[in-house]
Amino acid sequence: MSRLVVVSNRLPALGKGVAAGGLAVALEAALKDEDGLWLGWSGKTNDEAAAPRLQVEGRVTYAALDLTQEDIAGYYEGISNSVLWPLCHYRADLLEYSRGDMDRYLAVNDKFADALLPMLRPDDLIWVHDYHLIPLASALRDRGVQNRIGYFHHIPWPAQDMFRALPRARCFLSAMLSYDVVGLQTRADVRNLRDAVEAMRGTLEATTPPRGTRIGDYPISIDTEGFASRARRARNLPRIRDLYQQFGQRDLVIGVDRLDYSKGLPERLRAIEQLLDNHGGLHNRVSFLQITPASRSGIEGYDRIQQEVAERAGRLNASYGTLDWVPVRYINRAFSHSLLAGLYRLARVGLVTPLRDGMNLVAKEYVAAQDPEDPGVLVLSQFAGAAEEMGAALIVNPYDVEEVANAIARALTMPIEERRDRHSVLMRRLESYPVSTWARSFLHDLTPPETRERLSL
Ligand code: G6P
Repeated sequence: MSRLVVVSNRLPALGKGVAAGGLAVALEAALKDEDGLWLGWSGKTNDEAAAPRLQVEGRVTYAALDLTQEDIAGYYEGISNSVLWPLCHYRADLLEYSRGDMDRYLAVNDKFADALLPMLRPDDLIWVHDYHLIPLASALRDRGVQNRIGYFHHIPWPAQDMFRALPRARCFLSAMLSYDVVGLQTRADVRNLRDAVEAMRGTLEATTPPRGTRIGDYPISIDTEGFASRARRARNLPRIRDLYQQFGQRDLVIGVDRLDYSKGLPERLRAIEQLLDNHGGLHNRVSFLQITPASRSGIEGYDRIQQEVAERAGRLNASYGTLDWVPVRYINRAFSHSLLAGLYRLARVGLVTPLRDGMNLVAKEYVAAQDPEDPGVLVLSQFAGAAEEMGAALIVNPYDVEEVANAIARALTMPIEERRDRHSVLMRRLESYPVSTWARSFLHDLTPPETRERLSL
């Protein structure tokens, strides 16, 4: 039986009980029924070369690889988060490229390949995740690996005009074409990547062997059933019971986002300000909870956004708050999944208004957590990948703060029949395409046709 080998920059936070990033959550759900190996960065720095540390949990072996300070500076902070991330989120103004970082990025991908090589079996399926590791397949091919290798890009793939701003664009594209299957979140991302391949065909690096790479959209999802039942159970958590008491008289509007300039947080706070300006009747009747774990500090753009959001939230509370009402609670820490599920269920409105987002699983979790008899309303940016599947949400342009303010007001006063109708359409989609189906359809396409039947894929 072939094994599934997952490679990603981050390993899941084993045993920490804190909500991990969307990627870790999605993959853990996908892996739980398979024999598997998962290789990733340990999160630690170590200047001595060392083999990855192994930890077995159930049927999965986790292999944690240390990186050096220089590796992290060039590969993670440099090319991954100061070049690929801003570029794919249409922020070429934040791009900081250096050739030294690029050399390090390629060297760390070689390091991952060297670490994986002795652990590989000939019929393993290898599934690589995200922009940190785009060159991994070509590094493995250089070492003679013949296995099927797939890549899933969790973030947007930009339009060709933006992609051209990427230094060594051809090198990245050639690397993508060393995979057997490349998965993207949306049909729009697939079109963009195909445009790039078309535009650069013939000029891609000569070493690229033509593999007939399959490029397709595989929108990532959540464990819908599991999350819904977690939200039902969370009602009994003492913390959540207290909050029901506290918010009893007020409607709760919730946003949960990693602190990132792509999430549209200043624009969201401006929309809240606009709402409170236009609707005096909402004062003291609505509370905004913005849960925003800090992220990637020290990288250009992140420290600035941290300051801007904190200042805006402070100013808003200073202008509108009263002795017994703080309009916005802005919290920079992560919460457990159970607590989040309970908070989503309690909230009348879920605000997911990124300026650009690959998918956004908070949008899906918010919907799954609702009570179908009395559901809250999702306000969703047209620029989140999720909008391609979730047209029954209130879709907004996050740059139009008045439109977002109106959508929140509409959500807060929406009649119950409309809330139920919208929720049931969204829920049907989530139930018919949970994360297990996402993983299965990607792995189906990655598996050689002759063995698909044996694996019941
Ligand atoms: C996004 C990326 C993931 C990444 C996560 C957290 O969801 O798609 O690959 O792990 O952000 O970011 P960090 O830089 O903390 O790993």
